[in-house]
Amino acid sequence: MNRVYIKTYGCQMNERDSEAVAAMLRARGYRIVEDEHACDIMLLNTCSVRDAAEQKAIGKAGYVSARKKKQPDFVLGILGCMAQNRGAALLDALPDVDLIVGTQKFHQVPDYLDNLRAAREAGVPIGSSIVDIAAEAGSQNTIRDHLETDEKQVSAFVSIQQGCNMDCHFCIVPKTRGDERSRPMADIVAECRSLAAKGVREITLLGQIVTSYGRRDYAHTGGVTPFVQLIEQVHAIKGIERIRFTSPHPRGFKSDLVEAYGRLPKLCEYVHLPMQSGSNRVLKAMNRPYSRERYREIVDALRAVRPDMYFSTDIIVGYPGETEEDFEQTRELFEACNYDMAYIFKYSIRSGTVAADLADQVPDEEKERRNQVLLDILRRNSERRTAGLIGTVEEVLVEGPDKTGAHFTGRTRGNRVCVFDADPRLVGQLVPLQIERATVSTLYGSLVLSGVEN
Ligand code: SAH
Ligand code: F3S
Repeated sequence: MNRVYIKTYGCQMNERDSEAVAAMLRARGYRIVEDEHACDIMLLNTCSVRDAAEQKAIGKAGYVSARKKKQPDFVLGILGCMAQNRGAALLDALPDVDLIVGTQKFHQVPDYLDNLRAAREAGVPIGSSIVDIAAEAGSQNTIRDHLETDEKQVSAFVSIQQGCNMDCHFCIVPKTRGDERSRPMADIVAECRSLAAKGVREITLLGQIVTSYGRRDYAHTGGVTPFVQLIEQVHAIKGIERIRFTSPHPRGFKSDLVEAYGRLPKLCEYVHLPMQSGSNRVLKAMNRPYSRERYREIVDALRAVRPDMYFSTDIIVGYPGETEEDFEQTRELFEACNYDMAYIFKYSIRSGTVAADLADQVPDEEKERRNQVLLDILRRNSERRTAGLIGTVEEVLVEGPDKTGAHFTGRTRGNRVCVFDADPRLVGQLVPLQIERATVSTLYGSLVLSGVEN
């Protein structure tokens, strides 16, 4: 009765929330299982950012709720963004759901599951669901537990902030995640230190808009924002070798952050810089507070500090009213920025956002065409960059065995996945890898063993 399977949809924040829920449940005596067919409790941690993501989770919930016929004690919970977005209304479509828990209540999941189990054992009729999507002051401080696994953990996500106050007109996140709230710097640094002590070498700082971290809680010191102060403190931790973060906002790339790439060697030269559109008219309609010129300036400034910088981005094609000329502006800027990776989305109507009510929705076929144009450019850029890596030596952080178990896997500082042969003792170490061949997404090579502690 205590085997829990958690399925996560959506972004890295959701992955991190699921991990924290799993750790809290394990501390309460629940067992976290990998096989969805061998669980008593299934929790779907959901995403609302596009309609397709919601439909996927609703489909899954409908499908698994049929299990209750064979397994009457089976518990089904919906957590996270879609729970927050739709609340008790979800029960209209999914009456068999037992638990609906919003984004500020993840830490209540163990109590709620205890209650549901106790009620079942006491013979309370099944069918009374628990719904909690209230806001809770301080909830950003509850995503801090990490799941210990049998494998050595080399890389960890650390949540530094929840919510977003930006009001981009297409985006549901301010509704699902609430106001921007940051965790205390000292708590985050302590968490990173304890991860380092357990062998973690790479930290990814997470939040909806990390560049705004602590802006209401900490002063700028000498022109340095609280976000860069936090990076400096994590940088000072012995054992941490690499620092990444996601997602930033272009607005946050002032000179202090750009310069940080020149003076903090643990800060990996990989920046996710969401552009959304390359048309000034569309950026304005989206309520994105920068121009294409400013965006290009940031890319150039970062490349001036780190010529080998890798960039990735988010683009929305087919925002309401996006014309062929607007798209051409996006295409041109997209090509010029030479991204290593990009997430290209077809605009999806999110009810309750400003853009949902706009006329001039772009037809699906046109969104698809624009999507393909950008994907083609991305593939060509990525292949060019990869081809340039063949024959070079890249620093790789060894993470563990690959999917087949026959080789090892790790990533370069530019976040490219590598597959190679290694000794298990090298897990958690930075090693030089001679790149020999590549596909679009993966590099293959051999370790250059001189100089590696073995
Ligand atoms: N700052 C957040 C943004 C969350 S949404 C983060 O953590 O990444 C992630 C991306 O989804 C956005 O950058 C945007 O490109 C895309 N997106 C958001 N709303 C969308 C919508 N209504 N339709 C299509 N794509 C959307
Ligand atoms: Fe969404 Fe814009 Fe914030 S994309 S998460 S409202 S910065």
